[in-house]
Amino acid sequence: MGGLIPDEVLEEIRERADIVEVISDYVTLKKAGRSHKGLCPFHQEKTASFVVSDEKQLFHCFGCGAGGNVFTFLMKYEQISFVEAAKALAQRYGVKIPEARVTAKDERRESLFKINILAVEFYVHQIMEGREGKTARDYLERRGIGREVWEEYRLGYAPARWDALVTHLKGKGVNLREAEVLGLIIPKKGGWYDRFRGRIVFPIFDLRDRMIGLGGRVLGDGGEPKYLNSPESLLYKKGENLYGLSIAKKHIQREEGRVFIVEGYFDLLSMSQRGVKNVVATLGTALTPGQARLLRRFGKEFSLLFDPDEAGRKAALRALEIFLQEDAFPTVIPLPDGLDPDGYFQKGLSLQALLERGVPGVEYAMEALMEGYDLGEVEGRAKAVEATLPFLLQIKDGVRRGLYFKRLAEMVGLEEGRILDAALKMRKGKREGSDRKLIPRIHISTEKKLLEMLIQHPELIPLVAQEGVVDALEGQDLRSIAELLIHDFQLHGDLSLDRLSPQLEERGISEMAFSMAFQEEELEEGMAERIVADCLRKIKINVLKRELKGITKKIEEAQARGDEALLNSLLLRKQTLKLQEEGLKGP
Ligand code: UTP
Ligand code: MN
Repeated sequence: MGGLIPDEVLEEIRERADIVEVISDYVTLKKAGRSHKGLCPFHQEKTASFVVSDEKQLFHCFGCGAGGNVFTFLMKYEQISFVEAAKALAQRYGVKIPEARVTAKDERRESLFKINILAVEFYVHQIMEGREGKTARDYLERRGIGREVWEEYRLGYAPARWDALVTHLKGKGVNLREAEVLGLIIPKKGGWYDRFRGRIVFPIFDLRDRMIGLGGRVLGDGGEPKYLNSPESLLYKKGENLYGLSIAKKHIQREEGRVFIVEGYFDLLSMSQRGVKNVVATLGTALTPGQARLLRRFGKEFSLLFDPDEAGRKAALRALEIFLQEDAFPTVIPLPDGLDPDGYFQKGLSLQALLERGVPGVEYAMEALMEGYDLGEVEGRAKAVEATLPFLLQIKDGVRRGLYFKRLAEMVGLEEGRILDAALKMRKGKREGSDRKLIPRIHISTEKKLLEMLIQHPELIPLVAQEGVVDALEGQDLRSIAELLIHDFQLHGDLSLDRLSPQLEERGISEMAFSMAFQEEELEEGMAERIVADCLRKIKINVLKRELKGITKKIEEAQARGDEALLNSLLLRKQTLKLQEEGLKGP
C-alpha cells in the first residue's frame, strides 16, 4: 500500500512522527497513567474513551472502536489517502520523499486521467457558458437542481454535435486513440465521433476526485437510451465505485456514519439539493460486495432508498444480502407508491417524514419474501418459512440471527425449535455444498485471546510460529492477523503494529488488531506464557476434534460399503487421534 513512497522513507517518517503531538492538534489530550486520554473525534461522546499511547504510538477509542497509528488517524480525520497522510507527516517532520519511480502502467493511467480532465473541463465549460448549454441549464432548473449543486458535482453538457469533443481534444493535442479507450469517442471510418451528444453528463470520480467514467442523460423525456454510460477502462471498473462518494465521504463523517444509498443520478442530486449530502448512488445496477466494503470504510449506518417498483425491491433485497455478508444491517426506507426519491421530494414531502418510514432491513426482507403466501393456511406458512430462512441464515451475528428466527417463529405461528431444526437442516445442505462460512465459530474466543497475548507479549511469537497452528485458526481475520504478526516478527526481530498498519488496513483488519493491543491486563511473571500454552492446547484439541469428526464419518461410510481394509486403517487413525487428544487434555 505504501505505493509511491519507499519503505525506508515510511520507516523514517514513522520514527520521527509523534502520535501524541499530532493528535494534540485535533483533540485535547490529558495524561492518564501511561497513556493520554481525550474525547473521541470520531463519534459524539461526553466522557473520554479515546486513548493515545505514547509507548505504542497507537490510538484507540473504547467507545466506537476506531483505532490505528498516526497515519490512520490523519487518514480518518482528514479523509485523505495513506500517501497523502505520509506526505503531510513527512513535511511536518522534515523527512524528504524522493521523486517516485513511475511504472509504465502508472504513466498510462496518468495520461488517461489527463484526457478525462480535459473532457470534464470541456463539458463543464459548455454547461456554464456555452450557448448550446442553455438547454441543459434549463432542464436542470426545471427539475429543481440549483447551480450550486450541479457545480459541486461538476455536471456538464455534451453538445448535440458529432465532433464537439473530438475537435476539442484534437486541438489540445490529445492522442485520440486513448480517448477512444476511455469511451469518450467512438471510432468510425477515417476518424472518431463523440459518444455523448446532446446530453447532460455526470462525471464519476474516484476517491481522489479524479474522473474515471461518465454517464449522460438525454434532455427531456424522449430519446433512447435515457442514460448512456462510459464503458469499463483501465480507469473505470464498474461495481468498484459509487457515484457521489468522493463528495459524500466528508459528510458521512459529519453525520456520524450515516449514508443514504439511492439508485439514480437524479435521486442523489435531488437529495443533495435539499442539503442531504451523505448520499451515494449505485447507478441502477445491483450493489456489489466491493461497493459494500467501500461503504463500510466510510459509514456505519446505511439507509437504502430504492425505487418502489419490482426492480427496486429486488435490488434492495440483493443489496441487503450483500450487506449481511459484510456484517452490516442497513435500514430500508420504502417509498410511497410510484415515487422514486427524486419524485418524493418534488412533491414537497419532508425528509423527516421519509426517515420515519425506515424499517430494519431484515424485517423489510422478511415481509417482502413472505409476500404472496397466505399465512392463514398451513401450506402458505410452510412456504413462507422456506422462502425466508435462507435469507436469515446469512446473518452472521448470532444474537441477531437468533432474534430474527424467533421473530419468524412468531410471524408464522410455529415453535421456535421447529424453525431452528429447519435452519440446521438447510445449513447442513448448504455446508455440504462446500460453503464454509456458516460453520459456527465457537473457538474464536480462544483464538482471539491467543492473538491478544502475542500482540502484548511479542517475545512469545516464535513459540507460536513453531507450533504451526496458524493455519488451523478458524477465524479468517484472526488468521490473517496472526500471519502478519509472525511475518513482521520474523522480518524485524520485534513486532510493531504501527509498522504493520498499512497491511492491516488493506485487509480491513486493523481495528480488530488495534483493539487487541489495548485489551491490556497486568499479568504476573510467566502468566502470559501459561495463557498462550493453554490457548495452543485448546486450539490443537479443536483441530483433532475436527479431524476425528471427519474420520467418524468416513468410518460409517466404510462400514456401509464393507470396505474392511479402509475401515481398519481408519480405526487405527482414530485411535491415534484419540490418544493425542487425551494427551492434550491432560489428567
Ligand atoms: P432511473 O430510470 O430510475 O433514472 O434509473 P433516474 O436517475 O431516476 O433519472 P430520472 O429521474 O428518470 O431522470 C436509475 C439509474 O439507472 C441507470 C442510471 O444510472 C440511472 O440514474 N440507468 C437507467 C442507465 O444506466 N441506463 C438507462 O437507460 C436507465
Ligand atoms: Mn429513478
